[in-house]
This record gives sequence, structure tokens and C-alpha cells, in this order.
Amino acid sequence: MPHLHTRLAHAGCTPDPATGAVVAPLHMATTYERAADGSYPHGYLYSRMDNPTRADFEETMADLEGGAIAQAFASGMAAAQALLQSLRPGDRVLLPDDLYYGVRKLVDEVFVDWGLRVDTVDMTDLDAVEAALAADATRLVWLETPSNPLLKITDLAAVAECAHVAGAQVVVDGTWTTPVVQRPLDLGADVVLHSATKYLGGHSDLLGGVLVFAEDTPVAARVQTVQQTSGGVMDPFSAWLALRGLRTLRVRLETMMRTAHQLASWLDDHPRVTAVHYPGLPTHPGHAVAAGQMDGFGAMLSFEVAGTAAEALAVAARCTVFRRATSLGGTESLIEHRASIEPDGSTTPAGLLRCSIGLEHPTDLQEDLSRALSN
Ligand SMILES: Cc1ncc(COP(=O)(O)O)c(C=O)c1O
Repeated sequence: MPHLHTRLAHAGCTPDPATGAVVAPLHMATTYERAADGSYPHGYLYSRMDNPTRADFEETMADLEGGAIAQAFASGMAAAQALLQSLRPGDRVLLPDDLYYGVRKLVDEVFVDWGLRVDTVDMTDLDAVEAALAADATRLVWLETPSNPLLKITDLAAVAECAHVAGAQVVVDGTWTTPVVQRPLDLGADVVLHSATKYLGGHSDLLGGVLVFAEDTPVAARVQTVQQTSGGVMDPFSAWLALRGLRTLRVRLETMMRTAHQLASWLDDHPRVTAVHYPGLPTHPGHAVAAGQMDGFGAMLSFEVAGTAAEALAVAARCTVFRRATSLGGTESLIEHRASIEPDGSTTPAGLLRCSIGLEHPTDLQEDLSRALSN
């Protein structure tokens, strides 16, 4: 099999048999003609069920992650919802104590009413994970590493092993890493989730999500039923854009990661910065685990400034190269005061600013932060 980098470069580039075009066409049709005998000769029936462009993206993602099957959704959260809906009322899910707040909100505000039982554990503490698994039967362990927004590192292979011994499945939100940096299925996870809105698309211009399953299990089949019957599917144009994004994913990430590492090291020595959260720093508590399970340390970092939330917001406000916006993974660097957009009960430190590092020259980004921190 060709190298991952070659497969990325060729994403969505199987020559079209009808025209020879080297980039696969965008299929917008919602419905497909039946043969005289009532069959669907090309395998496509109706676009909610399946669509050639979406199928291309799904097959590409399954291949890149080393999975058996993938399903693409209208957003990362639609993917999360479909996976949670494949569980049964009464099932128990273990969530990490630091994770994308949207997942926490979805679980707390929708799935708890629906009957899901939820507990939270520090996934970086294996004893705590084992104790939580021993306390009650668990169906699903949800992991995010590096986590959002504190960049905590979970030992994927170790937690997957504990979860499997306890009879639980493991899903890893791979949005921040992508298969270029970390491949959770190789480390024992059962499912990988991505918000394709971020690095996979890579240009802040599409909304999408995808689940990749290690095996074509009954859980994967149930998720597919949710996907195809409820219709939270990735639209063809987003799938086409996501395939285009994949072709440059590696080079974008390599540059972004280099800059992120450089900025994290510089911030670490800055007198106004009280903490830097970046697993590439040797002082990060998860550095050794991250070095063992990641290829590079990602392009997301967060740092804390001394003082109040208002002072941290003022630092972000003084940036002119970094854009003040939520989301991540685009070519433009973003800075965000997380505590002020997370819901009540957020445990994010008041002085924390999260950065998605883009493709600008590192000197411009460093000077921007330097100016913003010096006022
Ligand atoms: C780690 C992570 N997972 C999932 C999501 C949800 O993705 P979407 O916005 O595509 O629904 C996000 C969005 O910010 C995210 O950062």
C-alpha cells in the first residue's frame, strides 16, 4: 500500500471513468434512475442514503485511518449525535474531564434526558479510569487527546486496553490531530470521530463530520441506520471540498506544527504568561506519552495570562494578525478566550487563551502576541 502521504495527495483523485478528469466530479443529484427491472444499476438510490461524492470521502477516510467503514455527517456534532444515538437508554458513557464543550453540552442537555448515564473521569489517570470502569458497566469511553482546551494527553493504547477488558468501546475525537498526527485505530480504539470543519477541510469554509469504525460491527450498522434515516449527512459539496482539503493536509499541518512549537516555547519564557499548554514542551506532563503516540505535537496550543478574564480578553483584542474567532484548523491563525464562550459551569481557567496556529510567517505571529502581551 502506498505511504499515507501519497494516499493523502491522491484523495478524491481517482480518474473519472466517464470523462478521464483527474479530479472526481461533484455529484449533486438527489435521486438516481432505476432500471426497468426496478433495480439501481449503479448502487445509488437517493442522496440521503448514499451519494458518490460523500462515498468517496467516506472511503478515503476509512483508508487513511486504517478502518473498515466510515460515515460522513453534516457536522462533527451530527457525527457525535449519531454515535450516541446508537447506544440504548440506560447505557453508561465515560467522558473525559476536559473535552470540547459541545459534546459535554449535547450529552448533558439532550442525552441525559433521553436516558444515557454519564460519568466524568480524568483520562490521564489510569487508576481513576480503571476505578470508574470497575464501578459500573460502561458502553462507551470517549477520549480526546490532546484535549480541549487544556491539551491534556491520554495514553490511548492503555485506556483502550482497560476499556476493552471492561467490555466498553472506545471513541477518540481525532479532530485536533487528523490521521497525519495520530491514528487511534492503530492504538486500539474502535471509532475515530472528526469534525471535518477543521483541519480536514482546512480552509474554514465547510461544515462536516465523519466517524471511522475499526470494524464493520453492529454498532457501525446502527450508526449508519441513524445517518441514512435521519439525514444528518454531509452534503456533496462539503464532501468534495473535504477531499480537496485532504490533499494538502500534511503540508499544512507540518508547517503549522513547526510554528506552534516555536510559539509555545517562546510563550513559555514570557513573563506575563503563567502557563503554556502544548504537549511538545518537555515540561508538559503528557510529553512522553504524546511523543510515543503522535507524529508531531499538533498545531493547537493554549496559554494562561495572569489576571482576570477581562485582562485575557484584552490581550486577544490587541491581536491584529491572529483573528478573534472560534474554530480551528484553517490557514488563518485564530485566538479565543474559551471561558467566555463555554456554557455555565465551564472549568476553563479565566485567563486561558486558545490558539489555532495557521500558515502565517511565525515572526508575524510572535510579534503579534508580543505586542498584545506587552500593553
Ligand atoms: C474537538 C472537536 N470535536 C468536535 C467538534 C464539533 O464539530 P462541528 O463544529 O463540525 O460540529 C469541534 C468543534 O469545534 C471540536 O473542536
